Amino acid sequence: MQKAIEARGLTKRFGAVTAVENLSLQLGEGEAIGLLGTNGAGKTTALAMLMGLRMPDAGEVRLFGHLPGSAAAREVMGVTPQATGFPDQLSPREVLAYANARRKNCANLDDVITAFALGPLINRRMAGFSGGEVRRVALALAFLGRPGLVFLDEPTAGLDTGAQDAFRVIARDYVAKGGALILTSHHWDEIEAVCDRITMIDQGRKVMEGTLTDIRARMQARQIGFTLPEGAAPPDWIRARPQGMGWRVESDDSDTDLRRMVTEKVPFSGLTIEPLALKDIISRIRKEGCI
Ligand SMILES: Nc1ncnc2c1ncn2[C@@H]1O[C@H](COP(=O)(O)OP(=O)(O)OP(=O)(O)O)[C@@H](O)[C@H]1O
Ligand SMILES: [Mg+2]
Repeated sequence: MQKAIEARGLTKRFGAVTAVENLSLQLGEGEAIGLLGTNGAGKTTALAMLMGLRMPDAGEVRLFGHLPGSAAAREVMGVTPQATGFPDQLSPREVLAYANARRKNCANLDDVITAFALGPLINRRMAGFSGGEVRRVALALAFLGRPGLVFLDEPTAGLDTGAQDAFRVIARDYVAKGGALILTSHHWDEIEAVCDRITMIDQGRKVMEGTLTDIRARMQARQIGFTLPEGAAPPDWIRARPQGMGWRVESDDSDTDLRRMVTEKVPFSGLTIEPLALKDIISRIRKEGCI
């Protein structure tokens, strides 16, 4: 069985800047991988090499066994790039119909229009579309005709929360039905909601990868939240930080810490105990150097 993406040793330099260095990555059908990293880490450059839009200085890629950029590869992939440039004078219907005609499996356009809530926009010229409206058209294009592999570069940047939620449902459904999906995002909760695995890059180099299940299992810490009466302060030993109207603690042993708070009669209320957010887990794993 061919992998949706099989990439080895990808490297790209722009003059003195090494945007991506020795990146290897595999993605199978029915899997979603999140590419994480700060601004300028190399995510868009990595995607561009995977999609065949940039030639790597070193390394190689196959998409379902095909060379990226080949007609065979383009037929089986859908893309939402970070920056889009739709012709102003076209309507979403015209753009989607044009793309649909080039897909291996033609989509029912009405289904796509409904899924991405494009109804009121579908026949308007795209000149004057808001940022979020353009983004929804770009997302619809990626999933059009259910390609085997979808590349999404910051798919929900600028989308309102309703459209972000709708995207998560569409993306999970696509993966559950066997699609392969790679996305970059600065929204950690989106990565948690959509992806099975993450690859984190920093200055072009891979610094961490793994399944979300494994990464969470490596960090059993909990976050404890509580409020205190006005004027009261938490004891120093618990190392609480203010959060909103209350306090937040990252605890490696929440049972012991809570017992001690009770013994010491700390006047807490509104107690919450939750697993650490993915963002905090990864930040701790990296700080503690146990990658
Ligand atoms: N065409 C180019 N010419 C010169 N430098 C470039 C070019 N494209 C990217 N770079 C540089 O390569 C590095 C990686 O850029 P890239 O766009 O891949 O980052 P990114 O992780 O996608 O960031 P962001 O989160 O801001 O989208 C950056 O330092 C960027 O300035
Ligand atoms: Mg980018």
